[in-house]
Amino acid sequence: MNSENLCNHPDFKDKLCWISVFTHPGLDIQGKNRALSIQDEIAFCYECEHFKNMTQRGFGRREADKTIAMTMVKLMEQLAIKQQNLQQTADRLQESLEQISLLNNITDTLARSDRLEKSLRIILTGVTSGDAYRFNRAGIFLVNDKTGMLEAKCAIGPQNAEEAARIWSEISRIPIDRLLEEILIEDEFVPCSMEAAISDVKMSLKDENHPLIQATKTAREIIINIKSDMYSQYDFSWWPLADQMAIVPLVSEGRTMGFILADNAITGKEITVDSVESLKSLANACAPGLNNAILQEKLRAQIQELERMNELIKSNQAYLMQHERLADIGTLASKTAHEFRIPLVAIGGYARRILKTIGTDKFDPKMVEIIIEEVDRLADITSEILEYSRISKLNIKECDVNNIIQQSLNHLEGKLAASGIKTEQNFSQKDLIIKVDPEKLKQVILNVIDNAIDAMNEGGKLKIKTSRQKEYVVLEISDTGEGIDKNDLDNLFNLFYTTKNRGTGLGLPVSKKIIDDHGGNIVINSTPGKGSVFSIRLPAIQ
Ligand SMILES: Nc1ncnc2c1ncn2[C@@H]1O[C@H](COP(=O)(O)OP(=O)(O)OP(=O)(O)O)[C@@H](O)[C@H]1O
Ligand SMILES: [Mg+2]
Repeated sequence: MNSENLCNHPDFKDKLCWISVFTHPGLDIQGKNRALSIQDEIAFCYECEHFKNMTQRGFGRREADKTIAMTMVKLMEQLAIKQQNLQQTADRLQESLEQISLLNNITDTLARSDRLEKSLRIILTGVTSGDAYRFNRAGIFLVNDKTGMLEAKCAIGPQNAEEAARIWSEISRIPIDRLLEEILIEDEFVPCSMEAAISDVKMSLKDENHPLIQATKTAREIIINIKSDMYSQYDFSWWPLADQMAIVPLVSEGRTMGFILADNAITGKEITVDSVESLKSLANACAPGLNNAILQEKLRAQIQELERMNELIKSNQAYLMQHERLADIGTLASKTAHEFRIPLVAIGGYARRILKTIGTDKFDPKMVEIIIEEVDRLADITSEILEYSRISKLNIKECDVNNIIQQSLNHLEGKLAASGIKTEQNFSQKDLIIKVDPEKLKQVILNVIDNAIDAMNEGGKLKIKTSRQKEYVVLEISDTGEGIDKNDLDNLFNLFYTTKNRGTGLGLPVSKKIIDDHGGNIVINSTPGKGSVFSIRLPAIQ
């Protein structure tokens, strides 16, 4: 075949000219048919000068021929249009398939995102992906319920053509799946220049006339032609270069969270209703995932706030306790001085008398005994005060409460018998294991039983019961003594409060401190004239 038998059209240069198929002298009917069967592209013949000449020459002699020629040209024209439409539909279908596949990819990645910052970037990477949505640049604005503002949160894309050339050549080689995966594993994001440009942009939701606020409030997508009369009064300079922008709301559970803004300022490609529609389907598919990310972010912020409050409370507590302690120590010092004054005066008096009488017959050794007694008493008070004021160090062990009580009772056996007091024990059958400093707990039990003995100076009954009550192990020590007046109950734990001649008033405050240090408490019930019940509650091992 020679070159004049080939098609003129640049797209079909390797094919035979449709007319030449019929005029080529060397082709038999078989050949013609074969040539025709490969000659499937005839849609452009109606534009071809050669075709036009041939049809006019060949069919031009009779009116009927002319009509046939015209009809043929017309048919070809229609065929060409149909073929074009078909191609467009196929292209659109292909685009939709790519969009659906990308959408799946984006929503899957979004579900695995653990931070709002990542979720925003995943969505925007999809919007600007060359594989499907193909917007040049995009940003997300979110409503801040607390401030009542619409705030720019994230943006992706170049600020100008040079930047575009650089960025797009860098990322065009990276498949979208990898870009999305990289966002997931990234810890820190360096904001691109577009993001930096809009970082401070925010607008009040009260500004109802602003097109962006309107789009948010009505949850309707819009195309903004910045220079048109309708929008020229609004300032969009924060989004550089733009002439036209698409605004598509992000709506989840009937609430607009914000919107996606997208444009094609670099390529200048017009934003069509179709492209906004596909952006809308992306926004709708991503909105629930984004909503989750926003809720998670709020939760995270609340947890952080709680932790901060907790720290604050802890540090304040330490401060308050220190203060309480200082105030306590002040009281302790003045009360101790008061307590010590009387025995010291007595000791001083006796010492002077000893000095005067020593070596004479007036010397009375009882004076030395009194001094020794008083000094012993002062030593006792001193150690109790030290016990109270020292930041107590506990020697914690796992112990059975029943054993500790038994040991304390053994210690007081003689005293109880001498006071005519009978004891009744009602110990829990189960082991009552607690974490405790056994020596300290023994000290508490001895203090309380000592008080009970003092209260039953005409004999009586001391009952001791142990039990498990929910998360506490409870020791109840009851006596049938004189009881405590309701008004005095509040004073029992005050330092140096005593109704006894030789009491120091330190037994119960020290006991309370020990039990407090173990995370427990002491509750007192008393009926004057009938007796008292001291319930000591300590945390049980769970
Ligand atoms: N079982 C009780 N029955 C009646 N009164 C009690 C009982 N236990 C404590 N009290 C009252 O509480 C006061 C304070 O007790 P606390 O043990 O702190 O000091 P004290 O017994 O007076 O002196 P100390 O124990 O230091 O020798 C007692 O003086 C007493 O008035
Ligand atoms: Mg006491």
